[in-house]
Amino acid sequence: MTLIATRAIPVEARRQGLGDGVEAIDLSWRTGTEIRGLDLTRPDDIPETTIQELMRLVSERCILLFRDQVIDHDQHLAFTRRFGPLAKTGMIDRYAPPGYPDIYKLTNMKVDGERWEVWDAARLWHSDQSFMQEPAMGSLLRCEIAPRLGGNTIFANMYHAYDRLSEGFKQTLAPLQAWHSIANIPRRPDKKWKPYDPGEEVAAGAAHPVVRTHPVTGHKALYISEHFVASIEGWTLEESAPLVNFLNNFPKRPEFTYRHAWRPGDLIFWDNRCALHHAPEDYAVSQIDAPENHRLMYRTTLAGDRPY
Ligand code: OGA
Ligand code: MN
Repeated sequence: MTLIATRAIPVEARRQGLGDGVEAIDLSWRTGTEIRGLDLTRPDDIPETTIQELMRLVSERCILLFRDQVIDHDQHLAFTRRFGPLAKTGMIDRYAPPGYPDIYKLTNMKVDGERWEVWDAARLWHSDQSFMQEPAMGSLLRCEIAPRLGGNTIFANMYHAYDRLSEGFKQTLAPLQAWHSIANIPRRPDKKWKPYDPGEEVAAGAAHPVVRTHPVTGHKALYISEHFVASIEGWTLEESAPLVNFLNNFPKRPEFTYRHAWRPGDLIFWDNRCALHHAPEDYAVSQIDAPENHRLMYRTTLAGDRPY
């Protein structure tokens, strides 16, 4: 039997603005593009035109993947800052590595003998910091240690999910706002959280439109969160439940998603305005302390998701 080689994917003309030697290879039909040929150890050397094109591409493709990037916290922050200011607060600084208050550390490994509080923070689908008045525009998550099996992240393309709704339903959704709050996080009964000060901005919650128009692409996207949304503004919880349940579940359909199996050195930049994400517990959680199940990730977060 002869195997027929897959045709090389051409770098489309509209992506040539990335610059010499930089390639964009799509990861799936509508979601995700791998960027090859960039060295993130020297983010300040990347031409501004390349940065602008990456911003345009992430807005269109929802996530960008950079592989084999061995970088430290300073390089990670410097690369992030090329795209705009960092998100000012949120939950990040509670879970920062020493000396880096703008970095969010996610790990299932014990730190000082204790389980890291946010080891399962992405258990449910969400868009980062949607519980804030100004949610995170983008997030850049890099992997230092990946479990031998699993430990994946799944991304949902919210343009695609929106496009698949009927015209009649789109009209119904158009004027609605959803209430996003950390108070809505379905708690694990066995888990204790450090309390939030009621005055903290993260504790206040925020209303956001259910359908948003992306400022870069001009396309509409669903904006919802299984993690943070339980009601529609002005509706009771009971009235909201069927619609919220539908909206939270619809984007999970496989055709809207891209699933990433992390390798150490991977960095994914996602656009929270058009993507949801979730980390399924697809590794041996009962043996969470076995080295082969260890997972260590660091995230930086971009501010600026206003106006929408
Ligand atoms: C995050 C997040 C997902 C993961 O960093 O915001 O949700 O797979 N992470 O760790
Ligand atoms: Mn997240």
